Amino acid sequence: MTAVDDIRARLDIVDVAAAYVPDLRRAGKNFKARCPFHNEQTPSFVVFPDRQTWRCFGACATGGDVFSLVTRAENTDFAGALRLLAAQAGVRLEERRDRGAERDPLYAVNEAAQQFFKQSYNADRGAQARAYAESRRISEESAARFGIGYAPSTGAELLRSLGALGFAEEAVFGAGLALRNESGPARDMFRGRLMFPLRDEEGRIAGFAGRSLDGSNPKYINTQQTPVFDKGRLLYGLDAARDAISAEGEAVVVEGYMDVIAAHEHGGRNVVASMGTALTEAQVALLKARARRIVLALDADAAGQEATLHSVRTSWELVGSLAASSRKMDVLNRPDDIGSLRVALITGGKDPDELIRSDPAQWRRLIAGASPAAEFLMEAEAARIDLTSAQGKSALVERLLPVIYAVPNWADQERYFGRLAEMAGVSPSALEAAVGRMQGPLEARRRRPAPERKRVESVFAVAERDPLEERVLALLAQDEELLERAGEVDEETFVRPENRAVLSAVRHAGTIEGALAELDDDLADRLLGLSVEELPPSDRQRRAMEWEGCLRRLDERRLRELKAQEEAAFLSDSGMADSGAGGAAQADPDYAQSLNAQALEINERLRAIFAGDKA
Ligand code: UTP
Ligand code: MN
Repeated sequence: MTAVDDIRARLDIVDVAAAYVPDLRRAGKNFKARCPFHNEQTPSFVVFPDRQTWRCFGACATGGDVFSLVTRAENTDFAGALRLLAAQAGVRLEERRDRGAERDPLYAVNEAAQQFFKQSYNADRGAQARAYAESRRISEESAARFGIGYAPSTGAELLRSLGALGFAEEAVFGAGLALRNESGPARDMFRGRLMFPLRDEEGRIAGFAGRSLDGSNPKYINTQQTPVFDKGRLLYGLDAARDAISAEGEAVVVEGYMDVIAAHEHGGRNVVASMGTALTEAQVALLKARARRIVLALDADAAGQEATLHSVRTSWELVGSLAASSRKMDVLNRPDDIGSLRVALITGGKDPDELIRSDPAQWRRLIAGASPAAEFLMEAEAARIDLTSAQGKSALVERLLPVIYAVPNWADQERYFGRLAEMAGVSPSALEAAVGRMQGPLEARRRRPAPERKRVESVFAVAERDPLEERVLALLAQDEELLERAGEVDEETFVRPENRAVLSAVRHAGTIEGALAELDDDLADRLLGLSVEELPPSDRQRRAMEWEGCLRRLDERRLRELKAQEEAAFLSDSGMADSGAGGAAQADPDYAQSLNAQALEINERLRAIFAGDKA
């Protein structure tokens, strides 16, 4: 079977199309939508599951199979579509042999070094390394599979050996395998270490890690940055894990090399290592291409520590855009953990490596029971804060509201809001009242300060989607009565510029059709998407309540940002931060004063409610 046939057999064109066509809906045996390739109001794009083909009966008047669909949708060529679909289907493409020209020569140096490390490992002098691997319970099979090697402790043997093979010294230095030394002869970078080749997702050796065998420090040495190696762009084990990740739709991230090897030995083939640091954007992107769900395996003892929280928050922000890119699949009722980040706490003070080897069933339970990252963050923050005092409670609310607002799913937001209220010891409605209702200051905020005021970076600005704003727009687009109330939305409360533009057009035109005509293609598509987005069934009264709740939250969120700006302004006034943020406050004393009043007011309200003051 060729790769093309294999892909056809494994993928359903309906699934593939759903990722590109937000409003794909069943129509009899087939599926219909507005054509993604031209702008239209009535659906003329049809997908035929029986034949695994698609056709636009409108302006495009073309069609084809899953490959032509992706070629058009991604604006790529056949080879590009093939690569994407192969990754999606978990089909491995034969490496083309004639890619020599585009391969960096450093890969060849690394391959040769890898041969050398493996030979040394299997030779007599590798005895200590083999004994160490055995003591770590690395099977011979894994040692071979992960290419475990040994770097002899002699000074420059690799350098000489590669020289004998015809590699220029420059290339060996360039690959980070040897070091020049001003005062003495050049030396091998790795000496007397157990070697791990670090392969990219295609299996090319980008660099190496070497573990000390005698407890000396540093425990691991990694190749320094080279043209082909950047630690932050690589996940250890991804070449071995990628098929399992695609097949399962889930990737598990651990910290260490040994953890990956142990996991793969015991069947956890979807496990990769971040190599000891917080996930980077590039690493998340590698996972996003294959996994719907990412599980971070964390040491429970370290879970409450600031560094760990920080790294979960960062990963979560990075993964957020994954939800954005795959949420379109919701139309076909995919499980809604698409794009989720979860956290599994490894209890008992063990590395995954140790746990997997001593109790693999427990490991699997922990991974399967991983909690959503937002939930983890809520519990971890709560555990760090003294919740017996009113101060503590309002600090918790302050910390967690941004987390909750960034959750890309409305129902979850509600649930977390309820949980937050519970942690703070008040009813959800009391909490909502405390943080939500805005009176006087609203007017002040309408008197807009200088438009180019520097925005305080917030989680809202980072999130690629904004569920709250989108909900407001969806309500406007789908409910005529609410459309009449569009004027109630304070445009200033919208953070994402594209949502703001859509809102502004809707208000200006007064009808959805009018707004669609006013907007550019991209924004019109956005509005169309929102106008067909599934809203929970609701009656008039509840819908109106939901509308009011949304506006309250938008107001409240805005208030928090103003408060942050006000703080930044204060800092810059006292010379403690970059100038800029304080400009507006200085230029407009009224504005500064109103900010102040608002900040005080909300603090007071929070404190009052947590102090049990029911007034
Ligand atoms: P750990 O200290 O948890 O090591 O670092 P480990 O993986 O459990 O190693 P063993 O079991 O003691 O052999 C986790 C990861 O952080 C990176 C490595 O990728 C390591 O696997 N690290 C750690 C370094 O790069 N350098 C170091 O000195 C330590
Ligand atoms: Mn370990």
